[in-house]
Amino acid sequence: MAENQNRQDPLSPHMISFEQVNKWYGAYHALADVDAHVAKGEVVVVCGPSGSGKSTLIRTVNRLEEIQKGRIVFDGQDIHAPKLDLNHFRARVGFVFQSFNLFPHLSVLDNIVMAPVNVRGARRSDARVRALELLERVGLASKAGAYPGQLSGGQQQRVAIARALAMDPPAMLFDEPTSALDPEMVGEVLQVMKQLARDGMTMICVTHEMGFAREVADRVWFMDHGRLVETGTPDDFFLRPQSPRAQKFLTELRTH
Ligand SMILES: Nc1ncnc2c1ncn2[C@@H]1O[C@H](COP(=O)(O)OP(=O)(O)OP(=O)(O)O)[C@@H](O)[C@H]1O
Ligand SMILES: [Mg+2]
Repeated sequence: MAENQNRQDPLSPHMISFEQVNKWYGAYHALADVDAHVAKGEVVVVCGPSGSGKSTLIRTVNRLEEIQKGRIVFDGQDIHAPKLDLNHFRARVGFVFQSFNLFPHLSVLDNIVMAPVNVRGARRSDARVRALELLERVGLASKAGAYPGQLSGGQQQRVAIARALAMDPPAMLFDEPTSALDPEMVGEVLQVMKQLARDGMTMICVTHEMGFAREVADRVWFMDHGRLVETGTPDDFFLRPQSPRAQKFLTELRTH
């Protein structure tokens, strides 16, 4: 953690800043003038219609998608700085996808131990102790020796969260972490995310789980056609949506 704190610009209360971010896929304007900040410890839920740019937005943060205009600052680091070690940087951004992408031939424990050892040069014994702590935290201490194929989807996703946490990320990004899960497994993953939020983790979560948004989010970002249309509190968004597009989105959500 000390390492992370050293990187932080002490003058900036922001953990993640999007400054006039623009991205095109060819001629298609996928992100248009996105300007927003995530404070330290803040939980942002990103929602919006399919194709509105939610995944694109969070994937710009660890440069899975490049932007053509604007600036992104993560934990005090301009992510396009020429000297940035991209692999090292990416490993520090906790990213959890819809698909868990665990290594099938490695045990749960080894999945978690790998990045700290290989990317950060942690001692294997230390990394194992930490991995076991993290498995405890996501309720899977008993599965350390299991292989991903022996776990349920919800359990695999919790391992994926533990794996991301093993790099002590200053913030965690989630892209629909529960969308691929059977309904009965959604709750256990949301529970882990809620606990993370309570522990003060800075988070951006793309999710359709509006109950989670209401309960956990400090802010809801509503996107439409590559634009950040609303950035209010959950009460603002759910009770007093300003834009016709957000009103329509919520109406459709409620009728489904
Ligand atoms: N690699 C790509 N090449 C061209 N266009 C792309 C690419 N990736 C995404 N797009 C387009 O950019 C827009 C935003 O896509 P994105 O995946 O960010 O949307 P989303 O809000 O995450 O949608 P969903 O809710 O369906 O996941 C869409 O119109 C999509 O077709
Ligand atoms: Mg998406």
